[in-house]
Amino acid sequence: MERTHRCGDIRVEDTGEDVSIVGWVHRARDHGGKRFVDLRDRAGLVQVVFSPEETTEFHRTQDFGREWLVQVTGTVQERPDGTKNEDLDTGDIEIHASDFEVVNESEMPPFSLDEEKRNETREELRMEYRYLDMRKQRVADNIRKRHAFLQACREYLNDNEFLEVETPYLTKSTPEGARDFVVPARNFPGNFYALPQSPQLFKQLLMVGGMERYYQVARCFRDEDTRKDRQPEFTQLDLEVSFMDQDDFLTMMEELVTNALAEAFRVEIETPVDRITHEEAMNRYGSDRPDRRYGMELHDVSDLVKDSELNIFSSTVESGGVVKGFRLEGHADDLSNNDMDDLIEFAQEEGAGGLIWIKLTSEGFESPVESYLETEVMRSLISEFDAQAGDVLFLVADDIRTANPVLGALRRHVAERFGMDAEAEGYDLYWIVDFPMFDEQDGQVTPEHHPFTMPKHPDRLENIDTDDTDALLNLDSDAYDIVLNGFEIGGGSRRIHDPDLQNTIFDILGLSEDEVDERFGWFVDAFQYGAPPHRGIAFGIDRILMIMQDEPNIREVIPFPKSKSGYDYLTGAPAEPRDDQLDGLGIEVTVEKQDEE
Ligand code: AMO
Repeated sequence: MERTHRCGDIRVEDTGEDVSIVGWVHRARDHGGKRFVDLRDRAGLVQVVFSPEETTEFHRTQDFGREWLVQVTGTVQERPDGTKNEDLDTGDIEIHASDFEVVNESEMPPFSLDEEKRNETREELRMEYRYLDMRKQRVADNIRKRHAFLQACREYLNDNEFLEVETPYLTKSTPEGARDFVVPARNFPGNFYALPQSPQLFKQLLMVGGMERYYQVARCFRDEDTRKDRQPEFTQLDLEVSFMDQDDFLTMMEELVTNALAEAFRVEIETPVDRITHEEAMNRYGSDRPDRRYGMELHDVSDLVKDSELNIFSSTVESGGVVKGFRLEGHADDLSNNDMDDLIEFAQEEGAGGLIWIKLTSEGFESPVESYLETEVMRSLISEFDAQAGDVLFLVADDIRTANPVLGALRRHVAERFGMDAEAEGYDLYWIVDFPMFDEQDGQVTPEHHPFTMPKHPDRLENIDTDDTDALLNLDSDAYDIVLNGFEIGGGSRRIHDPDLQNTIFDILGLSEDEVDERFGWFVDAFQYGAPPHRGIAFGIDRILMIMQDEPNIREVIPFPKSKSGYDYLTGAPAEPRDDQLDGLGIEVTVEKQDEE
């Protein structure tokens, strides 16, 4: 008999029906001379009862091992009262087997596929046997939700006249700022393709080519250190449009995301979502992607402490710096002096000269700088932060470009330490707009987003001395990020479509004409042919899934992920090439060979 149902789909309404199911043996136990076997397939588990009276060749069921694939023919029966299982969708029924066939036997799996035992299995082992790992509901659910989310995005974009277009993977270096993965080209000895860090340049060329609205579910490759929200190979929902202003575009994009979140995760997020400027985010939270759900906003207390006896306060303010900080509610008793030393070290590693903490107690306050803090100053700080006994104030005195990010990092660190991020409820989705145009690294002006990003006020560039770094660092761009619960889930910008302006930017970035020609000449040339105004964005699909599925890292939502160091435990990649491959490519390996991570 052909399969009639999926195991997990059978319900009490099917009682009395003859069914045929195929599933993996999840668990088997004997009871009262019968054999109870939970069979599992993509839809879930169902209990099958084998008995000497009802089942042909009952004795052979003794052989069933874990993960054997068995086809069962039988009848659906309602379970007797008292034996129903409310935790299972099929918990009201069981299948009484009349016949069965072993479709395929299985080796004993190297780890338990019980959901509850998940954390007992080493992640490396789960990655090596990913095909078994994904028989578990949690991994399977991540894969399904990924599909549902992407399909909902596709549907929205198709309805809005976007074209799905593929762009090359074997290409030339793209300018996203990470290291490239390169692929040697046999037909061009000594030359390499680069795998794209994003489809950025191609999608812009699609706009020059008049495609007007493009999207792609694109794999991107970046040889950078992995983190819990980063993989060397990850997926973007990449988009580009022509002739749309920022307001309309962001509105459309937030509709795309909130629709797809509703569709795939049954989560309602009210629109329009906030749009806050980069400057405001840095001033209020010290971060360009704050999770705003756990409060702890930064306060500038420079005015309150500028005349304090505490030299670091008064001298910082006098020399144009700021004193800023935030209040940690409660937890004063949870932080020992050693913990405080660790936090000071943390702040220093983030770039601050130091960190001042003040614990409020029922008697007064406690702080390493206690004797310098005048009553008047303390009173004003307590009132500014609305602080109570048991709270802790953290203050940094520095120039604003240092104080904000240090406090932002400390705020996040403290929130993680006390589980405030995990406990925070709901979804904090918003835009950060008006990113700075430039950043500075080792004395060189670099693009904050990428070199093709449009300044917010292009005319201001005309009046700026392009060697005046401070003036350049104050310029805003038409770049935006979208943030969900403290993670950057997408970023994009308006692009420069005027070749003269583009050349000015290259000049500022210290890229010579030759260099530009060599790296992006093929791209820049296109802008001489009537390029339309255009803008775009890319969403990090893996990150969105990680957040929505409440997973601790991005590897859990990627069907076949790589380890933290970029190793693939399933296939054993990267691996040594064969000598004949190297010969064909004209490549000699000179470094010591390394087998595994
Ligand atoms: P950006 O580099 O900001 O922009 O990337 C867009 C989004 O991709 C996700 N992301 C990652 N996810 C997992 N692992 C990584 N290593 C990783 N790196 C980035 C993030 C990020 O917000 N071409 C531009 C987009 C544009 O301008 O249109 C770009 O790639 O969620």
